[in-house]
Parts: sequence; C-alpha cells; structure tokens
Amino acid sequence: MSSASNKFGLYLHIPYCAAVCPYCDFAKTANFTGDVSTAYFSALKRQLELWLAASARAGLLKDGISSVFFGGGTPSLFAAELQPIMRLIASFLQPGAEVSLEANPDDLQAEKLAIWRDIGINRVSVGVQTFDAAGLKVLGRTHDGGMAADRVAAAMAVIPNLNVDLIYGWPGQTEASWAQDLSRVVAMGVPHLSLYCLTFEGKTPLGRQAQRGVVKPPPESPIVAAYEAARTLLHAEGYDHEEVSNWAKAGYSCAHNWLYWQDQSFIGVGAGAHGYLADPNGPGIRYAYPRNDRLFSKSTLDVNGLVDATLDEVASGLGAEIDPDRDMDTWLIELLGSGLRTTRGIDFGTALARCRKKWQPTLVAGEAVKTGILAFTTDGRLLLRSDEWFREAGWAVEVLRSCVDI
Ligand SMILES: C[S@@+](CC[C@H](N)C(=O)[O-])C[C@H]1O[C@@H](n2cnc3c(N)ncnc32)[C@H](O)[C@@H]1O
Ligand code: SF4
Repeated sequence: MSSASNKFGLYLHIPYCAAVCPYCDFAKTANFTGDVSTAYFSALKRQLELWLAASARAGLLKDGISSVFFGGGTPSLFAAELQPIMRLIASFLQPGAEVSLEANPDDLQAEKLAIWRDIGINRVSVGVQTFDAAGLKVLGRTHDGGMAADRVAAAMAVIPNLNVDLIYGWPGQTEASWAQDLSRVVAMGVPHLSLYCLTFEGKTPLGRQAQRGVVKPPPESPIVAAYEAARTLLHAEGYDHEEVSNWAKAGYSCAHNWLYWQDQSFIGVGAGAHGYLADPNGPGIRYAYPRNDRLFSKSTLDVNGLVDATLDEVASGLGAEIDPDRDMDTWLIELLGSGLRTTRGIDFGTALARCRKKWQPTLVAGEAVKTGILAFTTDGRLLLRSDEWFREAGWAVEVLRSCVDI
C-alpha cells in the first residue's frame, strides 16, 4: 500500500460504446470501426509515452504510479488491445497499484475477464444503473437485470475488487424498485458501490426531452429519500460511506477516487480526458483534451518535437487546453468542493497556509461549527457532517467566504 505522500495517478479515456445511452454526457461515440479504434489505441500509447517521459523529467515518477483508471466510454469493449498500454506502464507501477477498468455488464464474459486479470487489471467498475426492466428502458441500456446480476457475480469470482454503479432518480422509479436494486447488490456482496443521482444533462437526448416536457425529472423529495434510504441500508450492512456517491466495504476503497478527492496529481490521456498536476507552491496545472476521438488520433501524427518537452509543452503540443485563469482561490474552491463531501474532509490548516488566509467564519459557518455540521479535527482537518454532503456546493462557498486574506 502506498502512503499519502506518494500518490500519482493515470487516467486513460476510451471513448467507444456499443450504443449511446440517452442520459450520458461523457466523451463517447458508437460511431467507430476497428480501424478507428486501432488508430486511437496507437495514439493513446504514443501520447502516454510522451507524458510519462515528461513526468519522469519533472521528477513526478520517483515513487511510481499508484493507480490507473481506464474510463469511458466503454473500455470493456476491449481486452487484448489494452495490453500494449499495460506493458508500457508496467515498470512505473508501484507494488500493489490499483488498475481499474470501467465495464458494461454485456462485456463481462469469461474470456475477457481472464485477459484483463492476466494483463494486470485488478479492479472492475460495472455500470449496472438498475436491475429494473422499466428503468433499464428509460435509461436506454442494452442489458437486462438478470443478465447483469449473473455477469457481476461471474466477474467478482475472477476480479473480486469490484464496483457497481447504480443510478437513482430516473423518471418512474419507485421506492420499492430502488430498495430492490440496493438489496440485490448488498446480497451479492458487491464490495464497492457508486450511487449516482440521474442528472438531466442539457445536451443529451434525455436532457432535451426534459426541456420539452416529454419526460419529467422527479421532484427533490423522493431523490433525497432515495439517498437517505441508501445511507441507512448501507450503514447497517457494514459499508463505509466514503464520499457523497461512494460506499466501500473495509479494504475496498477506490485509491484512484481518493486521489481526485485529495488534491493529488494525475495525468489524463485521451479524447475528453482531464489531468491535474499539483504544485505545493501554487494552484497547479489543469488541462483538458478536446472530446473528438479522431482529432485525438490525428494530434499524434507529428509530435517528434515533444521528446524533450516540459509537461505544459506536452499538454499544449498534444492539443490539450490548459486552464489559463487558475489562481489560489480556484484551487481552494476545488479542494473544498471535492474534499468536503468525503469522510476524510480536507487538510484545512495546510490549505489556509498555502493560500495565506485565515479562518474568519461568516455567521452561517460559525453556527455550523457550533452545531457540529462543520468540525475541525485536532490535526487541522475540516469535516462536513455526512448528512450535509448532498449540499456540499453551498457549504464550500460558505467556507470559502470564511477564509479571508491575512
Ligand atoms: C461514463 S460511464 C462509463 C461506464 C460504462 N460505459 C457504463 O455505462 O456502464 C460511468 C458512470 O457514470 C454514470 N453516469 C453517466 N451519466 C450519468 C448521468 N447523466 N447521471 C448520473 N450518472 C451518470 C453511470 O452510472 C455510469 O455507469
Ligand atoms: S453510460 Fe456508458 S455505455 Fe452509456 S453512453 Fe455513457 S459511457 Fe457509453
């Protein structure tokens, strides 16, 4: 196990899906052939080589890579295609590094599971969303509930470190159906759960249907009730509620998630991928690739000039956009936004020192400290009480207002 000081992550985006779900706003396309994905994988490997070389030159790889995440899209469409990348990163991985792959239930066949295990994938995150037939229809999924349950069980037998994603708040969902979804994953002994409230993203077919009034997003109260039902059941079943959307059995925390929630660096490579390079003396660098997969593959055609480049030069040379307006306030609001909704909170003493600020609570923040909604630990961490994680954005702003320049 790696210690808190030597985390460094790698996110690789695979933007291909067998079919596109109407609610999904991630960088993805179902419009590809074998040639298109082959070109994409070779671009991904080439760009990763450049990122690794620049990271090594910047001294970021001294302790190696602590976690890798193949996200999508649907990385599980592929198996042997991932091997060249796994070979490339093998010598950089810390002992026991977590290597996750996002999967659709449809792809969890025995042959693929064996290949993933053999090439070093040691964690699988399966997007089940729901086992309910009506819900699967609303969400445009291609699996049925029984098949998803069978495939998840088969996958856990090969790769036991497994997460299931479920979605609540879909139009037509009932309390009983949500309770059934939860009890099903609990009964299966799934060790990590990500429970997401459906967002109606403006640019998606479902979002547009909601704008036109064709589908009706549920009101807030059943959504809050669904969240509370999950909190109560999963607490009773021995899951730790680690972050607003994530629950884990002991020993099954997702190291890669914690890296995002605790201001640690990660390189992101691929169409639509984001990366973050932390800087102990400043706001760090955030960059994002354009979302188009073919543009991504093309951007690798002429990159020989980048062999001795710095990390910023690699990012811009590969067509990623670096956020030019970051300052310490941006850094602090991001830290609060991601850290306050976790069980570990944030290292507030260090954060204030870095931003040259002091704690001068607003009336609301002062009252929240008195009532225990906000709490300071003896080692200088700031925690938000877990029943308020749902409203973390508001609390982050309140805490930010309470941090004044020295
Ligand atoms: C990018 S998807 C990739 C996983 C995989 N392709 C799948 O669909 O099973 C990761 C997860 O994000 C969640 N997600 C995607 N769009 C969402 C939305 N609009 N609202 C809530 N959750 C969403 C789903 O739970 C999904 O499993
Ligand atoms: S939810 Fe998963 S399968 Fe559906 S479009 Fe998004 S990435 Fe693809």
